[in-house]
Amino acid sequence: MLLYVNGCFREGSRTERLASMWLERRAYEGETCRVMLSELDVCPLDALGPHALAEYSRAVKQGDYTHPMFTLAKQFAQADEILVAAPFWNYGIPAKLHAYLELVCSQGVTFDVDETGAYVSLVGAKRLTYVTTAGGAKVDALDDHAFGYVHTLAQRFWHIPRIDCVAAWGLDGLGANVDALLQKALEEG
Ligand SMILES: Cc1cc2nc3c(=O)[nH]c(=O)nc-3n(C[C@H](O)[C@H](O)[C@H](O)COP(=O)(O)O)c2cc1C
Repeated sequence: MLLYVNGCFREGSRTERLASMWLERRAYEGETCRVMLSELDVCPLDALGPHALAEYSRAVKQGDYTHPMFTLAKQFAQADEILVAAPFWNYGIPAKLHAYLELVCSQGVTFDVDETGAYVSLVGAKRLTYVTTAGGAKVDALDDHAFGYVHTLAQRFWHIPRIDCVAAWGLDGLGANVDALLQKALEEG
């Protein structure tokens, strides 16, 4: 199953368009499962309810992941391939995508820690692609808290062997040829 996490929020989103172009080119043969963050009631772990963090700790301690807060993490763990699409916001990712990833990073569901303190992946995906578009020019790796962040999670927690970024920069520049920039990003990615 290819899990498509859609973190695009604007009507006519260019990022969503780029993700659709990528999906078409990818021509994945299995089932594609879409998570539309704009339609999903995700919020930070600490805001899920007064006892959410205590429940999270209890679940991890007892290995009991029946609480609905683990549903998204379970789905993520089962994917064979993952596509995440989100616009570049304030040098990072939209807060809702961050909240989603906070839920997905559930110890005991998508990763664990062994007796030496090393992270063990519980994720089946062999490939993760991050699709994004930005209004301004391409930034240095140090200023990129979007793909950089997702890459860290994918590599350190989930040990996903293939992690790619498809990024179109400069879309809000005066006279920008959006179609050409999206096409270029697709070809370079
Ligand atoms: C809240 C917000 C924050 C943004 N922050 C940045 C930014 O830090 N750097 C940048 O180059 N563009 C920034 N932009 C511009 C978007 O990245 C750009 O318009 C992008 O193509 C939007 O994608 P969409 O068409 O999929 O919504 C921001 C836009 C919004 C709405």
